[in-house]
Order: sequence, then C-alpha cells, then structure tokens
Amino acid sequence: MKIFIDTGSIKDIETIAALGILDGVTTNPSLLAKEPGDFRQNLKKICDIVKGPVSGEVTATDYAGMLREGRDIAKIDQHMVVKVPLTRDGIRACKTLAGEGIRVNVTLCFTPAQALLAAKVGASYISPFVGRLDDISTNGMELIRDIVEIYANYDFATEVLVASCRHPIHVIEAARLGADIATCPPAVVDQLFNHPLTNIGLEKFLKDWEKAQAVKA
Ligand code: G3P
Repeated sequence: MKIFIDTGSIKDIETIAALGILDGVTTNPSLLAKEPGDFRQNLKKICDIVKGPVSGEVTATDYAGMLREGRDIAKIDQHMVVKVPLTRDGIRACKTLAGEGIRVNVTLCFTPAQALLAAKVGASYISPFVGRLDDISTNGMELIRDIVEIYANYDFATEVLVASCRHPIHVIEAARLGADIATCPPAVVDQLFNHPLTNIGLEKFLKDWEKAQAVKA
C-alpha cells in the first residue's frame, strides 16, 4: 500500500521523504493556506522533492472555473494531480480533464454512490474521508470496504486514496481492506514508527553491549 503525506509543509515533506517511505503528497486549500509563499511555487518544490503524485486542489466551484484552474495546476509539473470536489461540476470537470490526459483526484467523498460516479468519469483517485465520518459517529472504514468491493466488481482503475486518516489504526485498516493509498498528516506518519517495546528493547541491547565491552577491556 502506498503512503502519501497530507500536508503543504515543505519541511515535513523533506523529512519524511528522506526516510524512503513516501509515495506521494496530498494538499487541500486549508493546508496550502497555512504555508508562506506562492502556492504554485510551493507545489513545484513539493513535486521536485517527492517525484511522485502531488494533489493540488481547485478552488473554483463551477465547471469552467475548475477546468481553467485544473489545467493551470496540471502545468506546474508532470507529477501534479488535479483535485476537484465531488459535486456535479466536479464530476463533469473530472470527465473533461481526464479526457485531456490530466490525472484527477476526486475529493470530499462520503458515500459509495459518490465513489462510483468518480470512477465512471475516469478519476485516477477517489478520496473518501474516514476521519470526518468517524467524527459524526459513522464508521469511515465501512465506506472504504464498500468502495474497494464496488471497484473490484467492475475492475475500475480508480485508486482508493483513504483520506482524513487520524491515527495508525485507520492506516492499518485501510491496508487490511486493500485500499491503494492512505494519506496521513505528518504526526500520523510519525506514529507509524513508534512502539515503546522497540525503544526499550534497543536501549537494553545497547546497554548489554556496552557492559560486555567494559568487561572485555
Ligand atoms: O486532504 C483531505 C483530508 O485528508 C483532510 O483531513 O483531518 O482535515 O479531515 P482532515
């Protein structure tokens, strides 16, 4: 399963890319708004670091505006993926942009029906938001199960990009269900590494080694 980082922070992207586990980046207007500088230049820098799919989202809500912004985003770099919201105009824009060979990530997906529509118009990625569903007492992972099953039934090429991951359990459940990608904030990627017994075990190995060296000296 691929791991994407959900951030606009170039510093965090550099740190995690250096670990060798990063397959791509997702951004959204809320994340990019937090970063200083021009968003196009920031997205270009991110593409240069990651050399994998980087999603940049349109802010237009009408079909013509989405096409204009989407084409502009796609020109930033060969790795750019255009993110559009799952609205009627977004689905229509996805069909047009995909027809021009532009990869599209359809975002703000909360139902299997929405995911089916995105696949039908040639989305490269569908982004179901698990954390935001959990927030309203609806099991987000059930949505992933449904989408993975539906896409497999028809061999849709659209990749299931599990978004709004809040903790490692979301990532592991996504992997168990066969989702293609989990996109996580930097803190969640960090948590994937951690277990107290790893730290305790390493500390003990090193102490035992030092003790033995002292005896031998
Ligand atoms: O980028 C979309 C998604 O991952 C947002 O997550 O935590 O704001 O619900 P969150």
